Amino acid sequence: MILAENEFITIQKLISREVGIDLSHSKKLLVQTRLLKRLLYYKFDNYLDYIRLIQINPQERIEMINLITTNETYFFREIEHFEYLQKYIIPKHPFKKKFRFWSAAASVGAEAYSIAMLLDKTMARSDWEIVATDINTDVIQQAKVGLYPEKWADKIPLELKKAYCLKGRAKHAGQFLMDRGLIENMDFSVGNLMKTNTKIGRFDVIFLRNVLIYFDTQTKQMVVDNVLRNLKVGGYLFISLTENLNMIQIASLKNIETSIYKKIK
Ligand SMILES: C[S@@+](CC[C@H](N)C(=O)[O-])C[C@H]1O[C@@H](n2cnc3c(N)ncnc32)[C@H](O)[C@@H]1O
Repeated sequence: MILAENEFITIQKLISREVGIDLSHSKKLLVQTRLLKRLLYYKFDNYLDYIRLIQINPQERIEMINLITTNETYFFREIEHFEYLQKYIIPKHPFKKKFRFWSAAASVGAEAYSIAMLLDKTMARSDWEIVATDINTDVIQQAKVGLYPEKWADKIPLELKKAYCLKGRAKHAGQFLMDRGLIENMDFSVGNLMKTNTKIGRFDVIFLRNVLIYFDTQTKQMVVDNVLRNLKVGGYLFISLTENLNMIQIASLKNIETSIYKKIK
């Protein structure tokens, strides 16, 4: 089954409006392939019927968004950020108030759990909390469970792996489970960066990594403005080492290291 040009454009517009992702024309085949399983599920023999469905059915729109988003992630991705946290941010925290972190495009949770292990190693559990959000309902569900293929643990420092990763047995052989105690300090929920996130409060540190890359300049500006509303003055924003905030207005931020910013007003 072939996704026609005008059908692709309809999906492109819908994704841009609801998720912010700028799907270039080169992604047409990818979209066709990823959505095929929904057509098969509904026994549709063309994409137009599926497009009509997503226009009237919000639940199916969620399914489509889940299939279109790219969720690649891994533990301690861009290790420089975790080294910076450990060296310069965690030791400076006055511990008077809860140290609050937001993993703002969390995918299946590897980023949030990486931060959690570092915090828990050095701080009392009552002193920190992590909020992890993503637009994709499937990955948030997986993050809540915290069960990963054993291979994913390769990037976790040995000391942390021993302390926080439970080796699966029987039907979970070949997998590991994140420590249940960590999860008590973490909140996983569905959230869209295109919208203001008023319910989750303000944070000392926000990780907004490997997601800006999917947005055009205007959307990037809107997302960064939204996210900065949730960052305390004096707090830190991390973007990916492969991303930049060129072309957008960030008067309240001071760049202190490659990809690390401090909110100064
Ligand atoms: C490549 S993953 C990055 C995961 C993690 N931050 C990391 O660096 O490993 C990008 C994530 O951004 C999420 N995403 C894309 N658009 C979003 C939006 N508008 N609001 C919230 N999350 C979004 C995707 O669902 C995906 O899980």
